[in-house]
Amino acid sequence: MGSDENYQFNAKIYDVLDRTYFRKAATSPRNAVISLLNNEPIQVLDMCTGTGTNALAIAGVRKNAKVTGIDISAAMLQKAEAKREQAGLSNVKLIHMDATNLQFANEEFDVVLISLVLHELSPDLAKQLIREARRVLKNVGKLIVVEWEEPVSRLKRIPFHLVKKTESAGFEDFLKCEMDQYFFRFGFEMTQTIHCDYSKVMVLSKNDQV
Ligand SMILES: C[S@@+](CC[C@H](N)C(=O)[O-])C[C@H]1O[C@@H](n2cnc3c(N)ncnc32)[C@H](O)[C@@H]1O
Repeated sequence: MGSDENYQFNAKIYDVLDRTYFRKAATSPRNAVISLLNNEPIQVLDMCTGTGTNALAIAGVRKNAKVTGIDISAAMLQKAEAKREQAGLSNVKLIHMDATNLQFANEEFDVVLISLVLHELSPDLAKQLIREARRVLKNVGKLIVVEWEEPVSRLKRIPFHLVKKTESAGFEDFLKCEMDQYFFRFGFEMTQTIHCDYSKVMVLSKNDQV
């Protein structure tokens, strides 16, 4: 994954994901992300924003936040831009950019979000992306990571099976990964985990180890 071609087709149907897996407001990872942000004038970077679901949701509710969404796929960004125009949001900008080579200064953002991305990257790409996230995040900033999580409920395991089927070979191993150890290697410490429908939202802060 990680190239524009992969998302040329996916862009057309991507938002079905939210209507299928994350439709319940109370247990949606999108709302959990918003709940972690206050209404201060913060700078938020949504890395690999896709069709902008998180970026637009944050900008819509946290009006004082300045949100930047970047993605490598022009097709996904086109969808995001159409949604931004429809919502009439001026506190979010969407930029075509490679997340492994961000065009931002060190420590520019209060919050960096990586949502539903890491599981589909090779270990090397994931490493580059997390290093860039750390570089552009303020020392007192928050890294928020959303990832899939195997549901406990048997009923939910059936729809989750479909997710497993469509993801790449390493997906099941990634699900089993000890996330606090995974991020510790990149200089982050896990401070909170919120379990949501089919997913979890992790909050991390920078530590001194890199
Ligand atoms: C599964 S989608 C997640 C979209 C969104 N973050 C969400 O929560 O729904 C993964 C996105 O990562 C993007 N992506 C993959 N590699 C990237 C890279 N190196 N730089 C920027 N975006 C990348 C893809 O284009 C795609 O839009």
